[in-house]
Amino acid sequence: MRDEMTRARNLLACAARVVVFTGAGVSAESGIPTFRGAGGLWKTSRAEDLATPGAFARDPRTVWEWYGWRHGIVASCRPNPAHLALGRWMLLRDGVTLISQNVDDLHERGAREAALGLLREGRPADAARAAPIRLHGSICHTRCTRCAARAPFRGPVDATSEATLPRCACGGLLRPDVVWFGESLPEDALRAAFAAAGAAEVCLVVGTAGAVHPAAAVVHETRDAGGKVFVVDPGATAYDGVADVRLRGGAGEIVPALVAES
Ligand code: OAD
Repeated sequence: MRDEMTRARNLLACAARVVVFTGAGVSAESGIPTFRGAGGLWKTSRAEDLATPGAFARDPRTVWEWYGWRHGIVASCRPNPAHLALGRWMLLRDGVTLISQNVDDLHERGAREAALGLLREGRPADAARAAPIRLHGSICHTRCTRCAARAPFRGPVDATSEATLPRCACGGLLRPDVVWFGESLPEDALRAAFAAAGAAEVCLVVGTAGAVHPAAAVVHETRDAGGKVFVVDPGATAYDGVADVRLRGGAGEIVPALVAES
């Protein structure tokens, strides 16, 4: 693995354009459950009951209860060394686009912490440079089902009755601003993600099983355009057959070793 790591480090350092594609695994060491592995959310809950427009129309209280619980977990978690290292790396170099399927805000918080660290070193940087393209929305924002206004959401959720659920200033019922099964991904984000992936010399895949399309196809966009695919994951993924470098292990250990300044 040491040879693979050195090769991957060198290629990443030399590449003019890199895409980093993350999934639930990048946040696992922060304490946020993944979806499909041991203890994954879809092992104990059915997506059809919690993460579809139909489920919300039938039973908004149950859906909000579940998202309120997940939001509470996210709010109590901190960015781990993978988020921090990616944030710092993106603030220090050009040509990296971060694309995430995650609905948590740990990439943004990691970038803010990295920017503070750089400021303390006398190297001010704008954390916004390291903001991810979000393919599946954000659990930290809501969208009004009546007027479509988006707003930050800080919780908690009171799902005692429909009357206590989060409401917009217009009176409409709010929903989590995430992409549910059966819904389209945000067009601008999808276009930007595929454009960046198609132009990248390397796609660094971190902590995603690659099971959910169309997001999962970002990796093939790089590969089909002649770029390389590096995978960081302790388990099997849909990309193992196309990966040029396969680094088995947790993101919190491997990502900092891959992207830290030498
Ligand atoms: P999955 O749960 O499908 O995959 C998580 C991946 O992370 C697996 O490959 C694990 O082996 C890996 N993993 C676990 N711990 C890790 C660690 N410490 N470091 C690195 N990797 C680790 O989650 P996603 O691929 O993100 O969609 O799932 C994709 C989409 O499916 C989600 O965005 C969500 C879900 O349904 C929507 O909500 C629309």
